[in-house]
Amino acid sequence: MDLELQGKAAIVTGAASGIGRAIALSLSREGADLVLTDIDVAGCEQTLAQMRAARADAKGVVLRADASRLDDHEATVNAALDAYGGLDIAVNNAGIGGEANLTCDMSPEGWRRVIDVNLNGVYYAMHAQLPALLARGGGSIVNIASILGRVGWRTASAYVASKHGVVGLTKTAALEYAERGIRINAVGPGFVETPILGADPEVLEHLATLHPIQRLGQPGEVGDLVAYLASARASLVTGAYYPADGGYLAQ
Ligand SMILES: NC(=O)c1ccc[n+]([C@@H]2O[C@H](COP(=O)([O-])OP(=O)(O)OC[C@H]3O[C@@H](n4cnc5c(N)ncnc54)[C@H](O)[C@@H]3O)[C@@H](O)[C@H]2O)c1
Repeated sequence: MDLELQGKAAIVTGAASGIGRAIALSLSREGADLVLTDIDVAGCEQTLAQMRAARADAKGVVLRADASRLDDHEATVNAALDAYGGLDIAVNNAGIGGEANLTCDMSPEGWRRVIDVNLNGVYYAMHAQLPALLARGGGSIVNIASILGRVGWRTASAYVASKHGVVGLTKTAALEYAERGIRINAVGPGFVETPILGADPEVLEHLATLHPIQRLGQPGEVGDLVAYLASARASLVTGAYYPADGGYLAQ
C-alpha cells in the first residue's frame, strides 16, 4: 500500500535504536522527511545512513534531544520548522525499561526517572508538537505505549504506570484535537527484539513463549503499523490503542 507520505515532515524520538529506528525507516521508505532525535546521536546517524541506503533521496536531520526535557522537544519542533517549513507527523517513541524491582523495593529515583522519560516525555512532546500541527491545519501523532499500557507486570510498576498513562494521555488529547484535524493514537508492542530486552538467550526464549505466535516481534513489524497510522490512509482512526503484540492481549 502506498501511504503517500511524500513531502510530509515527521519527528521520531528515540530514533537511534530498535523500534524508533524501524519507525524512521518505515516513514522514510514511504516518502516522509525526518527529524531524528535521541540522546544517542551516533545511533541516529546510523539510522539516517540506513534511510539513505534504502532510498537515495531520503531526507533526515539529526538532533540530540532528551525526551524528559520540554526545551529539547521545543528545539526538535523548531528543527522541523527550519528544515521542512512545518510539521505533519510526530512519533513519540523514546522510552526506557528502568529499575526492575517489587514496588516496595523500587527507589523513588528509579520511579521518577521512568515516569520522566516515558510519561512526562510524551506530554512534553505533544505540548511542543501540537501548536505546529495546528498551524499546519492537521496531522497525526503516534505514541508508543506497550502491552504494559493495558496489563500489569511484576517488578515493573513504574514502567507499567507510565505506559498506562501514555494510553490515557493519548485518548484525552485525541478527544481535544479531533475536530481540528489532528489524529492521535497509541501503539502497544508486545515484546520486540531490541536492546531494551537485554541479550540473555534464556530470557528472550521465555518472553517469546508468552505470545500466541510463539516468537518475539521484530521492530519493522511495529514500524509499518506506525507508518500506516501516521498516514491519511488511517483517516478514521483516532484515540485508539493498536496492539502489535502477536496476540498477547487476546489471552
Ligand atoms: N522492545 C520491546 O519489547 C518493547 C515493548 C513495548 C514497548 N516498547 C517501547 O518501545 C519504545 C522503543 O523501545 P525499544 O525497544 O526500541 O528500545 P531501545 O532501547 O532499542 O531504544 C530506545 C531508544 O530510546 C533512547 N532513549 C532512552 N532514553 C532517552 C531519553 N531520555 N531521551 C531520548 N531518547 C532516549 C535510547 O537511546 C534508544 O535509542 C519504548 O518506548 C519502549 O518502552 C518496547
